[in-house]
Amino acid sequence: MQGTIGIVVSGGPAPGINAVICAAVIEACNRGFSIVGFQRGFRGLIEDGDASVKSLSIDQVTRIYNTGGSLLGLSRFNPFQTEENTEKFLSLLARHHIDKLIVIGGEGSAWVSHKLSELLPTLRIAHIPKTIDNDIPLPNDLPTFGYETARSVGKEVVDILLTDAKSCERWYLVETMGRQAGFLALGTALSSGATLALIPEEFQGRLYTVEEIAKIIVGSMEMRCAQGKRYGVAMFAEGILDRLSPEGNKILSQCPRDELGRLTYSEVELGDLLLPEIRRLCSEKHLPLTTRTKNLGYELRCAPPIASDIEYGRFLGYGAIRSLLENEGHFLISKNKGNLEAIPLNKFFVGDSLAPRTIN
Ligand code: F6P
Repeated sequence: MQGTIGIVVSGGPAPGINAVICAAVIEACNRGFSIVGFQRGFRGLIEDGDASVKSLSIDQVTRIYNTGGSLLGLSRFNPFQTEENTEKFLSLLARHHIDKLIVIGGEGSAWVSHKLSELLPTLRIAHIPKTIDNDIPLPNDLPTFGYETARSVGKEVVDILLTDAKSCERWYLVETMGRQAGFLALGTALSSGATLALIPEEFQGRLYTVEEIAKIIVGSMEMRCAQGKRYGVAMFAEGILDRLSPEGNKILSQCPRDELGRLTYSEVELGDLLLPEIRRLCSEKHLPLTTRTKNLGYELRCAPPIASDIEYGRFLGYGAIRSLLENEGHFLISKNKGNLEAIPLNKFFVGDSLAPRTIN
C-alpha cells in the first residue's frame, strides 16, 4: 500500500510557510499521493493525537501561498521529552501510515527532525529550513525563507521610526530578534536609515559590560550631537545578551528555556537593560538627549511574504515532495544556484548541535 505524506510546522512563524504548504500539497496530490497536515505542530501531535491530523486537498491550499502565518498552526515543542510522548508520536505516525514527513522548522526543529531520523530510520524526512533569524548554514549563504520578508517589513518600521526620531528629536534603541545571530539587526539597519547596528558576531573573544556596550552607542550619539543632530536609531540584536557580563550571565542563568531547551531571549528586554546606563552616560557628558526603546520581531513573523519568499517557499515545498519520492533517507531541502539540493540531515549536526555559521 502506498504510504501517506505528513506535514508539520515547528518553531516560530516565518513569512512563506503557507507558500511551502501550498506547493507541497499540490505536488503530492498531482502525483497521486495522499497528504495530511498535523495541526499545532508537534504539540498538537502529542496533545491532540488523531484529532491533530487533517487531510489536505488542492482546493484548500491554492490561494494561501501569499498569506502570513501557518495554515496548520505551529508550536515550539519537543516531542521526545518523555518516553511516553515518543511512543505516542511514533504510534500516531504508524496508525496514519505516514512513511514520508515534511518538517517546516528552524534550527531547533532541525534537531527534532534529526532525532526522529535516528529513532525511525525508515521514515523519509524532508526538513525545510525556516526562520526569520537566518541562522541555518545553507549552501552559498542562501538566506532561510522568511528572512527577506521580515527584514523588508523591519526596514519600513525603522524608516518610520527615523522620521519620528528626527521630528521629535530623540533616539530610538531598537532591539531585533535573531537569537545568537545578528542577520536581522544588521540586514534591517543596512537597508534602512538606522544610525548604527550592534550584533553579537562583533563581540567575539571576550564578554563586555553593559557600560562598554552603552559607551559605543553613546559615542555615536555624541558625534551626531556635535553635528547638530539630536536624533538617531541604534539597532542591536537580542543575541548581544550572550556577550554581556556580569549582567548578561545573571539574566541568562535566570532566563526561562523553551521546550527545546533553548534560551528565550524574547523574555528579556535588552533595551531596558542598556537604557539606564545610556542615560547616565548622556547626562555625564551633558548631552541633552531623549531616548526610547522599541522591540522588533513579533510584528515581522506573520507578515504576508514578499514575492521572493513566495517563490522560494513554493520551490522548497515542491522540492520536498520530489525529494521524498525520489530519495530514501533524511534531508534538509535547499536551493543551490537555482537547483534543488537535498542535503543529508546528519551533515548539519556536530553531535547534537547545528554546525556553526559565521556572519561576513
Ligand atoms: O523564530 C525565532 C524567533 O524569532 C527568535 O528570534 C526569537 O528569540 C523567538 O523566535 C521568540 O519566539 P517566541 O516568543 O514565540 O518563543
